[in-house]
Amino acid sequence: MDEVPHGLLPTELMIGHPEVDAQHDEIFCRIETLKAVMLEDGQPHHAEFDALIAFFELHFATEEACAQAAGIDFSAHAREHLKSLRILSRAVADLRDGRLDLRTFLRYLEYWFEQHINDFDKALGHRLEDARARGSRSLRSPAGIGLSA
Ligand SMILES: [Fe+2]
Ligand SMILES: [Fe+2]
Repeated sequence: MDEVPHGLLPTELMIGHPEVDAQHDEIFCRIETLKAVMLEDGQPHHAEFDALIAFFELHFATEEACAQAAGIDFSAHAREHLKSLRILSRAVADLRDGRLDLRTFLRYLEYWFEQHINDFDKALGHRLEDARARGSRSLRSPAGIGLSA
């Protein structure tokens, strides 16, 4: 699809919001790049992991902004993002200190990311779609009919 520039996001994980889907695709691409680098030289590339964490922060902020703009309660999802960032940051620190195997981390990262999309982001996609539908309905309905001052 045009909105997903790299095309690594599986169709079944698309949530129907172009900006969020494009960011999810970007994350899958970064994970693929890290896997390819690992196969080449087996070494963790710390700058790339730090960049990935920074991209997750940006991505989580994007989802929160979309929810807020649509008037959707995002508190549980935001708590999950905070928890995930803590876990990812700790994992990257463990990688740096040699306490975590890179292959194990990448396997976990992909599994966790897919689970997060299925458990949280898809629900956000549905609620954003509902909010869009409500918005376009209220734009179509004539204002003020049936109301008295
Ligand atoms: Fe997401
Ligand atoms: Fe999320």
